[in-house]
Amino acid sequence: MNGKRVPPYLLVIIGGTGDLARRKLLPAICRLRDKHLSEFQLIGAGTGKKHNDDTYRDFVARSLEEDGIDHSAAGESFEWAYYHSVGGGSLEEYKTLADRILELEKQSNLPGNRVFYLAVPPSVFPNAIKNIGEVGLNKSKGEIKLVVEKPFGQDLQSARELNALVHKYFDESHIYRIDHYLGKETVQNLIAFRFSNVVFESLWNRDRIERVEITVAETVGAEHRGGYYDRVGALRDMIQNHLTQLTTLVAMEVPTALEADAVRHEKVKVLKAISPISTDNVIFGQYTRGAVEGREVEGYLEEERVANDSKTETYVALKLNISNWRWQGVPFVLRTGKRMFKGITEVAITFRRPPVSIFRQFSIRDIQPNKLIMTLQPSEGFDLSFKVKEPGDAYKLSTQRLHFQYGEVFGRIPDAYETLLLDILKGDQTLFVRADEVEASWELYTPLLSHKFEVNKYASGTWGPAEAERLLDGEKWSTA
Ligand code: BG6
Repeated sequence: MNGKRVPPYLLVIIGGTGDLARRKLLPAICRLRDKHLSEFQLIGAGTGKKHNDDTYRDFVARSLEEDGIDHSAAGESFEWAYYHSVGGGSLEEYKTLADRILELEKQSNLPGNRVFYLAVPPSVFPNAIKNIGEVGLNKSKGEIKLVVEKPFGQDLQSARELNALVHKYFDESHIYRIDHYLGKETVQNLIAFRFSNVVFESLWNRDRIERVEITVAETVGAEHRGGYYDRVGALRDMIQNHLTQLTTLVAMEVPTALEADAVRHEKVKVLKAISPISTDNVIFGQYTRGAVEGREVEGYLEEERVANDSKTETYVALKLNISNWRWQGVPFVLRTGKRMFKGITEVAITFRRPPVSIFRQFSIRDIQPNKLIMTLQPSEGFDLSFKVKEPGDAYKLSTQRLHFQYGEVFGRIPDAYETLLLDILKGDQTLFVRADEVEASWELYTPLLSHKFEVNKYASGTWGPAEAERLLDGEKWSTA
């Protein structure tokens, strides 16, 4: 986020041949390289023996092509990328990684700045962290950072244990817990929008706001991730992290500065102010067969590696109450689901209606409240709805919109991983989740994990189970 230059670094991706590296990290690195990363080397560490430096460079090239990056014109041969196998991940194998790192740092004259990026399944995190620490890779003359992907723990207890383990080897100021939603430009824009526009911030409270809805709807299903997803479900996969992060950015107080700890203090305060969630305010759903965007799709129970009597939720809607001076009594309704009607991430702010209607022909219920809809993806932008009088002698009100779309003004928006990788290399932790933050979030949701919720079925291609509407107290969803 800040304008500092990137010092020379060695980036070690544990899981260097995995899906995340291929789809996100390698394209992001290549996009950053030209502008920001001159003295930069990469080691992709994988479990297999089938790669060597040359074949790994081909792997990098293919990942760029899949992302639509044309590298051939620049004659790029990826000499900055290397491969090293850590096999089964034993301590011995990490020792060979350590030797390789020291050799490369010497040969490339790097100052010992290293980033270890854990792009592996969560079950591998503890072993990788322990081995990095035990072979002494967490110490050098330079600066060493650890990046941990989500999910960070699977409940409060496991998140605490993982925090204790990382803190054994790394100081919190060198730990970067990823929630990739924080890297999305439009999510960062929530901060800019709120704290540089007095016109909205002065209305941003319980006196003027009736309800906040946060929707993350996806058209994708569990598909090839069925084995993972069936053990996790939407509450852990999406609500505990992405939707909760969005909630904190919408609800937090003004930080004293746009600096990591100032912002994260405010986010933690929001999490601590959320009242325990009543199970009556939580609705679970699971998709069945249906049609999404005109294509027939299978139901969740028919997906590969999903138990055929699975009760895992692919949809969650829940209502939060943030019990502080700004928000007491304003429902925050969070909703996420797979195989929904369309893929969209939106924050919808519904303002209060006028206190009385001066128009004899309309009751107060007939006057639709102003809404501010912030679309975070895919058509990034916002809409503010307001009422105007239609021309003519009778008083007829019509709803119109002020509209802004990012793409029309700014063109291409960088991918979240470009932003996050650059911030890691520059040492800016603002967009990363702090230890107390991740624990506060798990503290909120852990009591729900053991509750046996009824799992309401919904057809793929719909907006989820109708039962969830009761969370809106008689109103309709703003995103539909
Ligand atoms: C991931 C979840 O964290 O976020 C996935 O594990 C989900 O299940 C994905 O599909 C959504 O991210 P995005 O950036 O596509 O909205």
